[in-house]
Amino acid sequence: MQKEFTKNELLAMEALYCSYGDTVHYLKEPKIFARCKGSWLYDIDDIPYLDMQMWYSAVNFGYGNDEIMESYGKQLATLPQLATQYLHREKILLAWRLSAATEKAFGAKGRIHFNVGGSQAVEDALKLVRSTKKGRSLMISFMGGYHGRTLGATEITSSFRYRQKFGHFANRALFVPYPYCFRCFYEMTPGECRYECVRHFEKLFETEYYGVVDNKGEECEFAAFFVEPLQATGGYIAPPPEYFPMLARILEKHGILMVDDEIQMGIYRTGKFWAMEHFGVTPDVITFAKSLTNGLNPLSGLWAKEELINPEAFPPGSTHSTFASNPLGTAAALATLEFIDKHDFASTVPQKGRYLLDRLRELRKEHPVIGDVGGLGLAVRVEITKSDGKTPDRQLTDAIFQEGMKGDLSYKGSRYGLVLDVGGYYKNIFTLAPPLTISGEEMDLFIELFGALLKRLGV
Ligand SMILES: Cc1ncc(COP(=O)(O)O)c(C=O)c1O
Repeated sequence: MQKEFTKNELLAMEALYCSYGDTVHYLKEPKIFARCKGSWLYDIDDIPYLDMQMWYSAVNFGYGNDEIMESYGKQLATLPQLATQYLHREKILLAWRLSAATEKAFGAKGRIHFNVGGSQAVEDALKLVRSTKKGRSLMISFMGGYHGRTLGATEITSSFRYRQKFGHFANRALFVPYPYCFRCFYEMTPGECRYECVRHFEKLFETEYYGVVDNKGEECEFAAFFVEPLQATGGYIAPPPEYFPMLARILEKHGILMVDDEIQMGIYRTGKFWAMEHFGVTPDVITFAKSLTNGLNPLSGLWAKEELINPEAFPPGSTHSTFASNPLGTAAALATLEFIDKHDFASTVPQKGRYLLDRLRELRKEHPVIGDVGGLGLAVRVEITKSDGKTPDRQLTDAIFQEGMKGDLSYKGSRYGLVLDVGGYYKNIFTLAPPLTISGEEMDLFIELFGALLKRLGV
């Protein structure tokens, strides 16, 4: 039997034996969790923490979801392990179901290609678009976008910090502004801007001297534009509805593929299977991961249009990973899709999202440091600002986050913690991604706890 270690002993061992490089170390006092269920995490002292971020949206359907866990148990008892090169029923059924869901969403036929984590799916998408657009190895992506931390993925992720210590292994993308209207790059006002961001992007194709097309304007140097339908790590920013259709027309005209990174916003986070469905645009490639298995087992992948990914175009061995399409992951993903079938998330997610936004807007009246709120479905952004309602307040955001993680909030005689995650260009945005199964009472409790945190900090 393993010795029961105390919290302090575990923390002392962590300080000695765990790399600090494989994740962020935001918390002043590291927290050890011991169990989870539904919308709740329980720390080592069994204090419940309401989780409003659900593992960066990897657990859309609640921790320890019994129905999804059951399928996992069955797979454990039958075929828990199998080399990727052999087939198993769940892989084939999952590919079929994901292709069908995507065909229903966009009316396009395609295939599914599996890997393990989000960044690996992005790497595979990079290979796919580079092999499709032979001779074009350059990519475009958004300022404030996030596509992962592997070497290729960091080249298309705008933050220099992610590359700073490691140098370049591929070509850094051309980064263009995302339509973050509350903090418009061009300092325009929504409604009056006439889509300055789209017009600036289109202008790049006007002459070879803007560095994008050849002298006849026929050939473009860029293979693909990697987009997030809503910026996730960038701060749960939703674009205005006309943006993507306008962008897609420009990309099509110049033969640039659109890769839609749905790793965080897909699987009903915004109320649709794929968030891009809100905008009526059909991407060429879609990457997905996280909530595909409800966070139970690493599994990721991509969907691509048939002409890009058929076996002649993207032949066997184009990519490979030992754990790609692993049986536990594919079984959990199939069960996740079955769970989705039994619930009407297309209706409940927008309803719950509206309720949460309304409650946050009420709270804002008492606390002007809530500078803005917004979002789509249950991807909700809360901007913390100075009392002018605009200037980002990173310090206060961090203080609220740290206080929530202390686990010492009291409400109606019980003790709670609050799990929040911070994102945004200025690290002043709470990116709320509660479970899509969250109850009305839990949303009300969140408002109480969040309000209590603001009061405690005197704002
Ligand atoms: C939009 C997006 N793309 C890619 C990734 C990378 O996924 P992973 O962390 O599984 O490598 C993330 C992770 O947060 C993400 O949000």
